[in-house]
Amino acid sequence: LRTQVAVIGAGPAGLLLSQLLAGAGIETVVIDRKDRAYIEGRIRAGVLEQGTVDALSEAGVGDRLRREGLVHDGFDLCFDGDRHRIDLRALTGKSVTVYGQTEVTKDLFQRRFAQAQQFFLGVSDTRPEGLKDARPRVHFTHEGRGITVEADFIAGCDGFHGPARQSIPPEVLRTFERVYPFGWLGIMVEKPPVSHELIYANHARGFALASMRSQTRSRYYLQCGVQENIADWPDERFWEELSLRLGPDTAASLQTGASFEKSIAPLRSFVAEPMRYGNLFLAGDAAHIVPPTGAKGLNLAVADVQLLSRALIAHYRDNNDHYIDTYSQTVLSRVWKVERFSWQLSTLMHQFPDNSPFEQRMQRAEFDYIAGSEAAARSIAENYVGLPLE
Ligand code: FAD
Ligand code: DHB
Repeated sequence: LRTQVAVIGAGPAGLLLSQLLAGAGIETVVIDRKDRAYIEGRIRAGVLEQGTVDALSEAGVGDRLRREGLVHDGFDLCFDGDRHRIDLRALTGKSVTVYGQTEVTKDLFQRRFAQAQQFFLGVSDTRPEGLKDARPRVHFTHEGRGITVEADFIAGCDGFHGPARQSIPPEVLRTFERVYPFGWLGIMVEKPPVSHELIYANHARGFALASMRSQTRSRYYLQCGVQENIADWPDERFWEELSLRLGPDTAASLQTGASFEKSIAPLRSFVAEPMRYGNLFLAGDAAHIVPPTGAKGLNLAVADVQLLSRALIAHYRDNNDHYIDTYSQTVLSRVWKVERFSWQLSTLMHQFPDNSPFEQRMQRAEFDYIAGSEAAARSIAENYVGLPLE
C-alpha cells in the first residue's frame, strides 16, 4: 500500500493532521491500535485555547464546537481558601473554550469517515522502518493480515507510549523528564458544575480542580498518591475530600452524585529532542508530556500539528522544504515555554511531600504576588489562553 503521509495514531494530533492535509489534497493513511469507540470514549482534556478552536474551525470541524463549547473569560486560583480570579479577557483580550477531547475526536472521526479517509484501526505490532529512506514504511497487523504502508513521510502521532519516538536511534534522541510525586484522581458526574468557571485550589490537604464539560456535567480532580487505588475512593470519600479542599464557601454550592468515570493519572513533564528524524516527524504526546495543571496537553498537540501540516503542505505545493527543515526547532521552542508554564502552575498549586517550610512560604508568596500584581496575573493569563504559534 502506498500513500503520501502515513500517520501513526488517531488521537487528536493524528486525526487533525490527516484532516488538515486532506484539505490541501494530500493523501494520508491513519493507523491506530485502538478502535474508534475506544478512542472517542477516552476521557481526557477539557479546555481549548482560542488558537485550538481556530485551528479546528479552519479544519472544518468547528460547527458543533462553536454551538456547544462553553466560552470562559476567566478562572479562579484558590489558596487555603483565598480565591483570586484571573480575568483572561481583561488581561489578554482572549478566552478559552470548554469542550471535551471526546467531542473533538468524535467531530474529527466523523469528518474523516465522511470523506472516506483510509483508516486501519485496531492494529497490532506497529513498526516504522527506513526512516532515512526516500520511502519509509510502517508495518503492522490488521485483522490477522500483515500490512505495509509505504509513504513519503511518517507522522508519529502515537502518544507517549507509541513506537514512533522509540524508532529514533538512541544516540540521536535526547529526553528530558520530571516525574511528580503524586497523581490526579478524576471523576465525571452528571451534575451542574460548582461554579460557572474553573477553580484550581491548593489546600494543605492537596490540590483540587473543579472543572466541567457542560452546564450539566462536572469534572473534578484531586491530588492523590501515585500508588493509590481507585477502590479506596468511593464517591462519598471523594466528595468529602473535595469539599474540604475547595473550602466551606464553595462546597456549600457543590452538587454531588454518582460518578460515571473515575481514574488516576500520573503527572509528568517530558520532552524528546529532536522532533524530526529523517522522514519521521513526531507531534503531540509522542514527543512531549506536560502535567495537566493548566490544560496544555491537547492544545500543544494541536499547535504541533498546525506547524507540521504547514511544513508538509509547503513541501508538496511549493516544493519548499524550509518548514520541514525548521520543524523540530520551531516546535520545540514553543514546547519548552509551555512545559515551563505547566511546571510552574503545577509547582504552585500542589502539596509536595518533600517541601520545606521555606518552600511552602514561597508558594504562598507567589500566590499573593499573582493576586496583587497585574503583571504577574497577566503572565499566567497569556500562557493560559495560549502562546502564539511562533
Ligand atoms: P493521544 O491522544 O495519546 O493519541 C495517540 C494515539 O496513538 C492513540 O489513539 C493510541 O491508541 C495510538 N497509538 C499508541 N500506540 C500505537 C501503536 N503502537 N500503533 C498504532 N497506534 C498507536 N490535555 C489538555 O490539554 N487538557 C486537559 O485537561 C488534559 N487532561 C488530561 C487528562 C488525562 C487523564 C490524560 C491522560 C491526559 C490529559 N491531557 C489533557 C492530555 C491530552 O489528553 C493529550 O495531550 C492529548 O491526548 C494528546 O494527543 P495525541 O494525539 O498527541 O496523543
Ligand atoms: C481539565 C483538566 C485540566 O488539566 C485542566 O487544567 C483544566 C480542566 C478538565 O479535564 O476539565
